[in-house]
Amino acid sequence: MDPLTAAGAVLAALHFAAPLAYYATAKRWLRLPWGVRRDPSYTPTVTVAMPMYNETGHIEEKLDDVYRQDYPRDRLEIIVVDSASTDGTAERTKRWAETHPDLHLKIIKEPERRGKAAALNKALAEARGEVFVITDADCRWPQRDALRRAASWLADPTVGAVTCLKTPARGGPAGVEAAYREHYNVLRLAESKKWATPVFHGELAAYRTELLRKIGGFPPDVGADDSHTAALIALDGRRAVAAEDLWCVEAVPQKGYHKWRVRRAQHLIQHFAKTPLRRAPPPMRPILAAEKYLHLANPWLLLAAALALTLSATPTALALLALGAALLALRPYRTWVALQFYLMAAAARNLWNKELIWEKQEK
Ligand code: GDD
Ligand code: MN
Repeated sequence: MDPLTAAGAVLAALHFAAPLAYYATAKRWLRLPWGVRRDPSYTPTVTVAMPMYNETGHIEEKLDDVYRQDYPRDRLEIIVVDSASTDGTAERTKRWAETHPDLHLKIIKEPERRGKAAALNKALAEARGEVFVITDADCRWPQRDALRRAASWLADPTVGAVTCLKTPARGGPAGVEAAYREHYNVLRLAESKKWATPVFHGELAAYRTELLRKIGGFPPDVGADDSHTAALIALDGRRAVAAEDLWCVEAVPQKGYHKWRVRRAQHLIQHFAKTPLRRAPPPMRPILAAEKYLHLANPWLLLAAALALTLSATPTALALLALGAALLALRPYRTWVALQFYLMAAAARNLWNKELIWEKQEK
């Protein structure tokens, strides 16, 4: 066989084999027991931090949503951090607070916008809760006992952080977003059962406040603030888990979907590039090694394979390329290939713009 064709075929095989092998491993991990002693009656004091930048379209609904939580009011504090919004988000929050005096709500107003992590750190500095929860404006908690459920996991001292599983509010283009989520929820759960997942969700992430402070708060130089803090907590020896009974509904932008995916991929790449494997406790090592590889290296094998096959242009190479194109009719395959393009575009874009302060997308 032509060496370039052979190289292309091998690269393509490696590219697809890696995630399939990891998925098979994850399915095995899913059968593991949790090994977590939950306590549904555990109600630590909780601070819910809400970073807000120009969120008038969501703010009241979001506050109402959290207000509906059945968590004891005297053990709950809300901190809204507004970073110089220009649409009156802070004023709307203040008005909402006046009509809900039974909820401890504090508004921190930043004089200028310095990004989500900086805003969260302001809230962390003033937080009085034993548990620090972050949540985005545009997501909803469909479970009234979401905070109780999150807390029940933290009753076990080996657990340092808990996050939700996600379901998209709408499917995204051609159901891609929904397909992507199904696959990722399985990985998040499997990793959590094994030890810890290095991917957390800003829709609902709950951390032991003392641990957040110990790791230095939210990283200003990594866009995936939610995931990076969780990973650092896991490197520090506590488990960071996606809870099997905790669900969030996230808003998916209908306009600018691809841009949104690239930005989030940029943030994940920053996160995995900055999470050192050598510091991972043994059960965390295979998880982190796989995720680092899948996010940072594996996408490029697909590109290299496509290039090698195109350049060699032998009948076998062209047949393989045609097969690769024909398979795009299958949703899981199409979803996977799209993700590879988002990751490559994101890696390239990270070279000149890390998107640490990002443009708001209407959802
Ligand atoms: N205070 C403040 N200051 N809040 C901000 C800023 C800022 O500079 N930038 C964004 N936010 C707030 C938004 O108002 C929203 O409540 C939340 O942070 C998330 O921002 P979105 O614009 O909705 O971003 P997303 O949906 O793509 O965010 C997802 O990915 C991010 C990482 O890529 C979420 O999971 C985020 O939690 C995550 O950080
Ligand atoms: Mn969002």
